[in-house]
Amino acid sequence: IAVLMLWTVIGYLLGSIPFGMVLAKSMNLGNLRDIGSGSIGATNVLRTGSKKAAALTLVLDALKGAVAVLLARSVAGEDAAQLAGLAAMIGHCYPVWLKFNGGKGVATFLGLALALSLPVGIGCCLAWLAGAALFRISSMASLISAAASTFLVVLLDTGPFFALFAVLTLLIFWRHRSNISRLKAGTEPKIGQKT
Ligand code: G3P
Repeated sequence: IAVLMLWTVIGYLLGSIPFGMVLAKSMNLGNLRDIGSGSIGATNVLRTGSKKAAALTLVLDALKGAVAVLLARSVAGEDAAQLAGLAAMIGHCYPVWLKFNGGKGVATFLGLALALSLPVGIGCCLAWLAGAALFRISSMASLISAAASTFLVVLLDTGPFFALFAVLTLLIFWRHRSNISRLKAGTEPKIGQKT
């Protein structure tokens, strides 16, 4: 139990590093809270106009999820890996450094999915890309990808991950509440659009 708790804390701390916020500040792109959705993820960093900062945010936010899983797995095994992945997501969405108001977890989710199960992770990335190609709306692509993950776990018969991916999907939908309202109202901006 102590080992699992330790990996939960390590996963949380890794996940809570707000790369988007740090990059936007250090590259003088402004305060993400005053831009677009106010979120700290790659989608909102792209609204500053910097594709480079957005790409870096995407990669680093994904990496922290993957690193949490791979580290925990190599040292403490599969249960620790799942817990560390979940904790990294919670860290990204509710970081202690930003008064528990972080991002929406999609890049981190894709990173930890790839690390937990390569086929599920690749499927989630493809679902995101398909959603983005179809709708040109990041949040829509993210919701499609999250929802697809639980189906992928069943389809690809990666049974032990079902509960985890169900929880991750619910968390992603919960963090996209404002996006879902905008999608319903037809006011959600397209990828790269400022408002
Ligand atoms: O990954 C987050 C994305 O799905 C939505 O971001 O900034 O449009 O709320 P945003």
